[in-house]
Amino acid sequence: MIFAYFCSSMKFTKRTNTCGELRLADEGKTVTLNGWVSQVRDLGGVIFVNLRDRYGISQVTVNSENKVIYDTAKSLGLEYVVSATGLVQKRSSVNPNMATGEVEVLAAGLEILNTSEVTPFVVEEDVKASEELRFKYRYLDLRRKKIADNLVLRSDVYNIVHKYFEREKFIEVETPILMKSTPEGARDYLVPSRVHKGKFYALPQSPQTYKQILMVSGMDRYVQICKCFRDEDLRADRQPEFTQIDLEMSFVEEKDVFRVVEGVICDIWKNCKGVELPQPFTIMSYDEAMQTYGSDKPDLRIKGELKISDITEIVKATDFKVFADAISANGIVAGIKLPGQDVTRKIIDGLTDYVKSLKFGGLGYIKYNTDGTTASPMLKFLSEEIQAGIKNNFNATGGDVVFILSGEKKKVLHGLGNLRLKLAEQFSLIDETRDEFLWVNDFPLFGYDEESGTIAAEHHAFTMPHDADMNKLETGSKSPKENVDLLTSIRATCYDMVCNGSEFGSGSIRIHRSDIQEMVFNVLELTKEEQEEKFGFLLGAFKYGAPPHGGFALGFDRIIATLCGTKDIRETIAFPKTTSAVGLMDNSPSPVDARQLKDLGITVNN
Ligand code: AMO
Repeated sequence: MIFAYFCSSMKFTKRTNTCGELRLADEGKTVTLNGWVSQVRDLGGVIFVNLRDRYGISQVTVNSENKVIYDTAKSLGLEYVVSATGLVQKRSSVNPNMATGEVEVLAAGLEILNTSEVTPFVVEEDVKASEELRFKYRYLDLRRKKIADNLVLRSDVYNIVHKYFEREKFIEVETPILMKSTPEGARDYLVPSRVHKGKFYALPQSPQTYKQILMVSGMDRYVQICKCFRDEDLRADRQPEFTQIDLEMSFVEEKDVFRVVEGVICDIWKNCKGVELPQPFTIMSYDEAMQTYGSDKPDLRIKGELKISDITEIVKATDFKVFADAISANGIVAGIKLPGQDVTRKIIDGLTDYVKSLKFGGLGYIKYNTDGTTASPMLKFLSEEIQAGIKNNFNATGGDVVFILSGEKKKVLHGLGNLRLKLAEQFSLIDETRDEFLWVNDFPLFGYDEESGTIAAEHHAFTMPHDADMNKLETGSKSPKENVDLLTSIRATCYDMVCNGSEFGSGSIRIHRSDIQEMVFNVLELTKEEQEEKFGFLLGAFKYGAPPHGGFALGFDRIIATLCGTKDIRETIAFPKTTSAVGLMDNSPSPVDARQLKDLGITVNN
């Protein structure tokens, strides 16, 4: 009996079409659809069943003429799996909201392939469920076309990337997932070893060291679409495990890496969006990006640009205390012009609160009214000459408002950069119809942490200094502590690709010569033992003829999110984690049983 049950349940009428493809041209054909029941409307005498698969939804119409089919339709529940066979016919009332809305399938056969319990939320495009519930029952969430389409797009981009790099004569190499822990960048995810108790592998934060070693091996054009793991604070564009398009090339300069990476982005945009991106992409130095946009990832889609302008020189003669104090402490006064908007007192108060949250005392502003008058609490402190200088500098006319901040240079630029984005959002100035790409290069090689008094590599310890700044490194590395300003002014051959204000990827030309590496390690105050402990195997390989090389890694999830028009990369990942790194569907991370821990020699202290 049991055998018979399984046999009959294995037999079903297989689909001839998907639920998304029937059109008026199919009228008169007999078709079979397999799918999930997404809606049942019983009008008494006729039942309309909507069948869904990942391609779309089709209406199956069941009338009472055939009692068996009619009774089967009556017994259907949402998310039952069904096979429906029948004639495609023109609908009497077209549904313009469905791609298949001009036709219906008049059921001549209806099989229930499986039942479903009542789902924890209704599977519909405009889902009402909380994010938690959606992630817990992700398999149901993935039945929504919007999310399923994101995965299909992801798969398409995979194919485009593979084809592109094959054409470009790259080879794909898989690098280890179990590797040595290197205490750099974010925290590692650790994997204990049963065989070597007390020792741990780390999951790769990126295949950085391996890809550089592959260059020593002569694999001169490497690429890999790889998983990376980082135990760091999460947000919309960060997951603890994410995917990179990782590449490395030998015998190249920065511009060669740019060409290859731009090429793959252009291929993706052309194939997925039908957009020919203008090439080459704009290149902007880190200094210019910071001075002009207050960010190392400027969003260039903002209407009116809202560029930052330094007006320290114009206002330097003022005795207005706020500006004078900033200037005498070596700081700056700078502003941005918001052109032609209705900026009310309430809006200015809101913006003032915003900059206060960024630790500014207040927000200076000058409002140029359309009647030629000017409104600003600062005016009484500024001479007519200074007022005219500011107006001229910003080319301000009636309807414009100039916002001004003063203080330490970095803080002011950062503050105005954030204010720029806030204004763009508040006044809907972002042109969402286009994507704006650019390269930001010449990042600082080193950063200085005032609190700990330490100098650290901004990208990583293997980034090649700018040729023109090599003498600064030679001088500075002899006594780093006395040369902090000199060292932090060294530019690196390090570059980011930015799209719409988001960091798409990052890379650099690497140090391949031991004398330069030595100087960088000196600056970072890494002893020989520490160098050996942290990077021994890489430095070891470099002794045997490391070629000049450089590379890049693109954030795959961020690319897909941009193509899908979302900022949340979780919408593009089949089984994402929450912002607290929890897998709600499989309940990870989870405790393990005592025996497993014993095998690993691990005791857990709660
Ligand atoms: P980097 O650390 O800048 O560089 O990473 C490269 C790109 O990967 C993406 N990314 C992330 N995406 C989602 N979630 C995260 N937690 C996350 N972290 C990074 C970003 C980022 O620009 N090995 C170097 C590259 C190189 O020098 O070749 C690296 O990993 O889009």
